[in-house]
Amino acid sequence: MYACRLPRAVYAGEGALEILSAPLIPCEKVAVFGDRGVEKAGGLARPLALLRRAGHDVALLLDIPAEPTCEQAQEAVDAFRETGAGAIVAIGGGSVMDVAKLCSVVGREHTVRELLDDASLARRSGFAVMVPTTAGTGAEATPNSIVAVPEKALKVGIVSDEMLPDAVVLDGELLRGLPAGVAASTGVDALCHAIECFTSRKATPFSDLYALEALRLIFDNIEPACLEAGDMAAKNAMLRAAYYAGVAISCSGTTAVHALSYPLGGKYRIPHGVANAMLLMPVMRFNFDACREDLARVYDGLGRTGAADKAAWVLGVWKTSSGRCISPPDWMRTAYLRTTWIPWSRRAWTCSGCWSITSGALPPSMRAGSIANCWKEAHKLAKTLGGIIVPILTPMHADERINEPALRNHIDRMLEGGVHGLFPCGTNGEGYILSEGEKEEVFAICLSQTAGRVPVFAGTGCVGTRDTIRLSRKAADMGADV
Ligand SMILES: NC(=O)c1ccc[n+]([C@@H]2O[C@H](COP(=O)([O-])OP(=O)(O)OC[C@H]3O[C@@H](n4cnc5c(N)ncnc54)[C@H](O)[C@@H]3O)[C@@H](O)[C@H]2O)c1
Ligand SMILES: [Zn+2]
Repeated sequence: MYACRLPRAVYAGEGALEILSAPLIPCEKVAVFGDRGVEKAGGLARPLALLRRAGHDVALLLDIPAEPTCEQAQEAVDAFRETGAGAIVAIGGGSVMDVAKLCSVVGREHTVRELLDDASLARRSGFAVMVPTTAGTGAEATPNSIVAVPEKALKVGIVSDEMLPDAVVLDGELLRGLPAGVAASTGVDALCHAIECFTSRKATPFSDLYALEALRLIFDNIEPACLEAGDMAAKNAMLRAAYYAGVAISCSGTTAVHALSYPLGGKYRIPHGVANAMLLMPVMRFNFDACREDLARVYDGLGRTGAADKAAWVLGVWKTSSGRCISPPDWMRTAYLRTTWIPWSRRAWTCSGCWSITSGALPPSMRAGSIANCWKEAHKLAKTLGGIIVPILTPMHADERINEPALRNHIDRMLEGGVHGLFPCGTNGEGYILSEGEKEEVFAICLSQTAGRVPVFAGTGCVGTRDTIRLSRKAADMGADV
């Protein structure tokens, strides 16, 4: 069996925003969520005027931070309660929509933290409208809200159908002031959603339908939508694509690109789309043989003809509709590196630290060695852009034996690549369990391999736990700079 749950109504295309002045929202007082970026770009003026024209009393909540933590989301929930509004209109990117979605379900009895532990506590109250101003996350279509959990150095999704909105408005006019850098990285996020869903083991006929149409729209529109501020047709097409890719996520879920990018967002606060953009090509190259048939289906579905290797064509997504073929680094440079990525990436790449990655979301075939290779490729890409390190470790799955030569190999490669630190143990919170003995074994190998040349850190998701503290002490005893 497979299912597809959708928002109740979607209004899209030129003039779609006008729906806000119609009798759409069945209560007088409306809380409008936005952020300073959208406000500064002039994205709020028209929706607010339309809501007021419809007779609504509007309470503004404009201090929603990008990539919010669960505490920041809780602050928004508290502020929302104070307004006494019976409806929510979120006008913003994924960050604003995710916070607004949480506000629509947390209620008075619970907190965001409690929902993190048990999403079944979510209960919808009031009417909710999502108006995306980036064409990326598809959060307007999904039952997910993603928050950073700082003490775990992770981003975590709260998932409940109660968060599906009553109405979605997709109007490209709102993207007019979106900086090219944000347009590109959020567009690549939508691309990742569609490719990951289409090639997932959990793909269904529903997710395939939406993912394929999203891919068709993205291939044809991402470049003009990013680079030509006035190209409303391209921006509207990208908004539709992001929405469709969001529906595909609801049906099947994302896979390894997202799983590997969450530590980048959670620990280093790298914007979600940028983190995904760094990992898309390495992960897809890794998956290439397993996904060849799916990718060829994408090619056929796009109605293209003539490629000798259809799958390779799809992964040359960087071929634009005009037929220009540009390699990913070039594309990223031209489209957005000048703006968003470089400051963020410097911050991330120069951090001395790395983390282990384990995730229930990873395909069984994607073991530590393959993850390391994906990271290594991302690292190469970063280097060409003036970055310094890519962190990674290690074989930490509960069902996996420690492979000492592979581990040694990783560490050597990391040192060659300029890695400054290692996390020899840790979890990203998805239930990895290594026995105590195994952790110490991995730890000892790391220490002997690094021979005091690098500082060694212990712990990622388990930072602060007794286990980590004990291992950190042990590392110090063994001469590590912890
Ligand atoms: N709920 C989901 O299903 C889902 C899916 C993917 C990602 N996410 C989450 O969404 C968040 C990222 O959202 P995002 O990528 O849309 O970015 P964002 O909402 O964080 O916005 C990025 C920046 O762009 C600015 N901005 C947004 N729209 C603008 C506009 N039209 N004009 C000018 N500036 C504008 C914002 O002010 C912000 O500074 C992350 O927290 C991510 O984890 C959620
Ligand atoms: Zn995403």
